Amino acid sequence: MSSLLNRDVIRADQFTREELEIILQNAGRMENALRARERLTTMAGQVLATLFYEPSTRTRLSFETAMLRLGGQTLSVAEAKTSSSAAKGETLFDTGKMIEAYADVAVIRHPQQGSAQELAEGAGIPVINGGDGTGEHPTQALLDLYTILHEKGRLDDLTIGLVGDLKHGRTVHSLAKALALWHVRLACVAPEALAMPGDVLRDLDLLGRPPQSIDNLTTAARECDVLYVTRIQKERFADQASYDAVKGGYVVNRDLVEHGKPGLIIMHPLPRVDEIATDADTLPGAAYFRQAANGVFVRMALLAMVLGTV
Ligand code: NCD
Repeated sequence: MSSLLNRDVIRADQFTREELEIILQNAGRMENALRARERLTTMAGQVLATLFYEPSTRTRLSFETAMLRLGGQTLSVAEAKTSSSAAKGETLFDTGKMIEAYADVAVIRHPQQGSAQELAEGAGIPVINGGDGTGEHPTQALLDLYTILHEKGRLDDLTIGLVGDLKHGRTVHSLAKALALWHVRLACVAPEALAMPGDVLRDLDLLGRPPQSIDNLTTAARECDVLYVTRIQKERFADQASYDAVKGGYVVNRDLVEHGKPGLIIMHPLPRVDEIATDADTLPGAAYFRQAANGVFVRMALLAMVLGTV
C-alpha cells in the first residue's frame, strides 16, 4: 500500500526521493493507460473537492479531469473568495471541518502562505496544496520532475536554470527543493529584487545543492540543460511601479535557444506573459505545453496514491 495513503500534500520537501520516484512511476502507468484509451474506474464512488480562492486554469482542470478519468467525481468552488463562506468570514480550519462531509480528498489554492496547512488541520480527509500564495506548489513540482525525466531521460547530472521571479514564484520554491534530492546543479537567473528567498536557499544548502547565480540569460542558455522560466508574479507586487521596474527583464526566444546548449529544453509552469516569445513555441525543446499535459498523469497518480487505489 502506498506510503502516501491518507496523507496531506503540502510541501515538496515532505517527500523522500524514493516516494517521488514511486509517484513518477505511477504517473507513467497512468499516461500509458490513458494513451491506450483504457477506461479506469478505480476511483468510482469517490469525490474530489477543489477550492480555488485564486485564478487557475491548469491546476484545477487537470485535478478535476484526473479524478474524472479515474472514474471519480468532482465538486468545485472556482471563485471561493467571493462565492464561498470565506466571504462571510469563515476560517479555513472551519471550512476543513465541513469539507470532509462532502468529499474524500480536497485541493486548495489560496493567496495566503500556510493556507493549505490550515485547511488540512481542520479536515479529516487528505488536503492537497494547489498553491499557497508565495509559498509552495508541490504538485507542480511533481509534474515538472516528470517532464524533465521524460524530456531528458534522467534527473541526475543535469544543470537546471530557474529563471524569472524566484522571489514570489511558488513553483520554483517547490521544484528547487524536489530537484535537490537528485544530483543536479541548480542556477538562479533572476534580478536581485526577485532573488530566491533565504529560507529556500537555506534548505538547498542543507541538501548540499546551493544554487549558483547566472545574471546573463545567454550564458544560462549555453550552460543549462533545462531553462525553467517563470512569470513575474504581478499580483504579488505592492504597486505598479515596482512591477514595472522588473518586468520584461528576461525573455527567452528562438534565437536564444538555437544558440544555447544542444538539447536545451524550455519549461514554464504557465501562464506565460511575455517571458517566452511565441517564436520559440515550435522548437523541439519547447516543452511547456507537453509539461502542462503531464499534469493530468501526475495528478491521477497522486490522487490514486492518497486514496489508496494504487
Ligand atoms: C503557476 C502558479 O499558479 O503558481 N501556475 C500553475 O499552477 N501552473 C504559475 C504562475 O501563476 O505564474
